[in-house]
Amino acid sequence: MMDELTIRRPDDWHVHLRDGAMLRGVVGYTARQFARAIVMPNLAPPVTTAALGRAYRDRILAAVPDGLDFTPLMTCYLTDDTDPDDLAAGFADGTFTAAKLYPANATTNSAHGVTDIANIEAVLERMAEIGMPLCVHGEVTEADIDVFDREAVFIDRILDPLVRRLPALRVIFEHITTQDAVGFVDGAGDRVAATITPQHLHINRNAMLVGGMRPHNYCLPVAKRETHRLALRKAATSGSASYFLGTDSAPHAQDAKESACGCAGIFNAPFALESYLAVFEEEGAIDRFEAFASENGPRFYGLPLNEGTVTLRREEHDVLAAFDAEGTPVVPFHAGDTLRWKLA
Ligand code: DOR
Ligand code: ZN
Repeated sequence: MMDELTIRRPDDWHVHLRDGAMLRGVVGYTARQFARAIVMPNLAPPVTTAALGRAYRDRILAAVPDGLDFTPLMTCYLTDDTDPDDLAAGFADGTFTAAKLYPANATTNSAHGVTDIANIEAVLERMAEIGMPLCVHGEVTEADIDVFDREAVFIDRILDPLVRRLPALRVIFEHITTQDAVGFVDGAGDRVAATITPQHLHINRNAMLVGGMRPHNYCLPVAKRETHRLALRKAATSGSASYFLGTDSAPHAQDAKESACGCAGIFNAPFALESYLAVFEEEGAIDRFEAFASENGPRFYGLPLNEGTVTLRREEHDVLAAFDAEGTPVVPFHAGDTLRWKLA
């Protein structure tokens, strides 16, 4: 049995770092695990311009604890009114690494998102032209579509037509949750990739609904039935370069989740690598973990691989029931569980 694994330093290709006290309370967990992270722009108000992107990046860097070497990669929140010139200038000067498509009202702080993809056609064409990647929250929002079907319907109605229309656009189908998404990504060629979260590899929808409502297992896209979880595990551990690590760590105050209308989001940053590695070990694919965590992402984004390594050791440890984020309790993924790997 293997007791130690050393891999090239990994990155998180999808994280919510928030702002203010919550940012200061959580950024260290991500910076301890990852060299870089694609930072989501769904603040209130959202990061919709290059100037806002630079200011947010400065706040993140100021909040990173001393001694940690961490680079936030910023994203621009697309709206119906995004200015293609400002976006392209932000990409050209290195402010933005990608742009994020939130269908309006799909999730937390997405009210300013895109109401109809036709409204951003010129922006998407410009992105294809300049090689700027598009991160996609892939769910339709129509009230008549069941929440468990929203990802699959998004593929048919929005994503498939989009990649046919703009074959040069690089698309990251984020936090995929279904067998349908795996089938789509596998068939879409090398212009489309997907991130997969730890929670969607570990839990299905029963974890949210059996034995009582468990708000800390609620995120969007919502976990689906077991067949989908198994398809995601197979995809993540397959060795395909189309899949890579993106935690979607999304901290909310404990009382905002344990509420009559609980927020969507799972805070998995403290032990994300340990959580993923458990899955790769269970699937007999430890040898494929490094590509998923540290190689496929930068290659897809056209960024250099990180220098340096991290080591994970076999060591049982219990996950706290709650973390203190500058005075706000936040319940982590795996709260109260025992994990069997630990980042050295
Ligand atoms: O569960 C989620 N939480 N999904 C998202 O898309 C947004 C995120 C958040 O910002 O809390
Ligand atoms: Zn997210």
